[in-house]
Amino acid sequence: MSEQLDRAADELVAQFGEGGRIVGATAPGRVNLVGGHTDYNDGFVLPAAIDRRTAVAARARDDETIRVYSADFAEAATFELSKLDPPDAAEWVDYVKGVVAELRAVDGGEAVRGAELAIVGDVPRGAGLSSSAALELAVGGALVTAFELDVDRRSLADLAWRAETEFVGLDCGIMDQYAVALCEADAALFLDCRDRSTELVPFDGDRARIVAVDTNVEHELVDSAYNDRVRECARGVDLLDDRLDAEIGSLRDVSPAALNAHADALPETIRRRCRHVVSENERVRRAAAALREGDFTAVGELMFDSHESLRGDYEVSCAELDLVVDVARETEGVYGARLTGAGFGGSVVSLVAPEAVAEFEAAIRREYPERTGVEPDIYDCDVVGGYAVER
Ligand code: GLA
Repeated sequence: MSEQLDRAADELVAQFGEGGRIVGATAPGRVNLVGGHTDYNDGFVLPAAIDRRTAVAARARDDETIRVYSADFAEAATFELSKLDPPDAAEWVDYVKGVVAELRAVDGGEAVRGAELAIVGDVPRGAGLSSSAALELAVGGALVTAFELDVDRRSLADLAWRAETEFVGLDCGIMDQYAVALCEADAALFLDCRDRSTELVPFDGDRARIVAVDTNVEHELVDSAYNDRVRECARGVDLLDDRLDAEIGSLRDVSPAALNAHADALPETIRRRCRHVVSENERVRRAAAALREGDFTAVGELMFDSHESLRGDYEVSCAELDLVVDVARETEGVYGARLTGAGFGGSVVSLVAPEAVAEFEAAIRREYPERTGVEPDIYDCDVVGGYAVER
């Protein structure tokens, strides 16, 4: 077992006692190189998994009780399989319940029984690095293994996404669960969020590092603004659909030229939201092509452009994120940087020449606290593999 899973297994024994067969799974956090707010518009994204993981150890029980311990929260919870009601607020245990509920739905409710689970991990929470998808996939993987269920990675990603959207009740696209489930080491995942086809694009970590800077701010706007953006995009689709000859199902079907030609059909705000999504899809395609060529300079430029579009047209940035991106722009050897995740705080992902990482970190540590009064967290990341099970 990996060291992290060993710790999870130790926690399981410490909390719930010796005995039985302990299995487990781990799942990483992710960054998204380009493709902000495109996933719920049927568009493209380019995430990569980072070397911060959540590990879940599991042991089956003979009854209908799930007992789960989170080392991170130093909290235990117990629930019955017969009482899996969607929550009012999203606590950590609700993600566990959601995955259990969805697994039981897939399986007709037969094979998943009671279990003991212990969770350990180091994916930063609330940092826009997908700690919730990591938790969902690691819990799902541990249960699938404990009960020997026949659920492949993609199905587990779909199921984890339903756990978050339908059970926990948080709106999100499919990027995070797919990235966490399907990423592989030394590659970014070019994902088409419409047909869910994927391509692994090699990422040479000797030539560029991924540095995530957590601003350690999270503005309250995040959930309501996310939902507003989803609605604004849907409104754009309705208005454009009335105008365009061909039927459109989402902004994915709108080319930059078509948007330009029919811009007058859209109110100002909706027009800018649509312009971001339509142009961002182009940027993801171009970034994937550049990455295939190993052209980090071109990928980085597209990241800076993406940030500018998210800031100006989509309006999901904030002063702290902009500051980190500005420092990135001014630091030699930083190819590119943009906000990753939903925005309004969380992290900036940057692509940095290995020899420039120390200077970039130093510049952030100098300038960011001075101008915000907040200490950032900085992660120099390896690009690792996604979800993994251990028996
Ligand atoms: C959050 C959501 C994702 C995606 C991003 C924005 O991370 O969970 O599905 O929409 O925001 O790109």
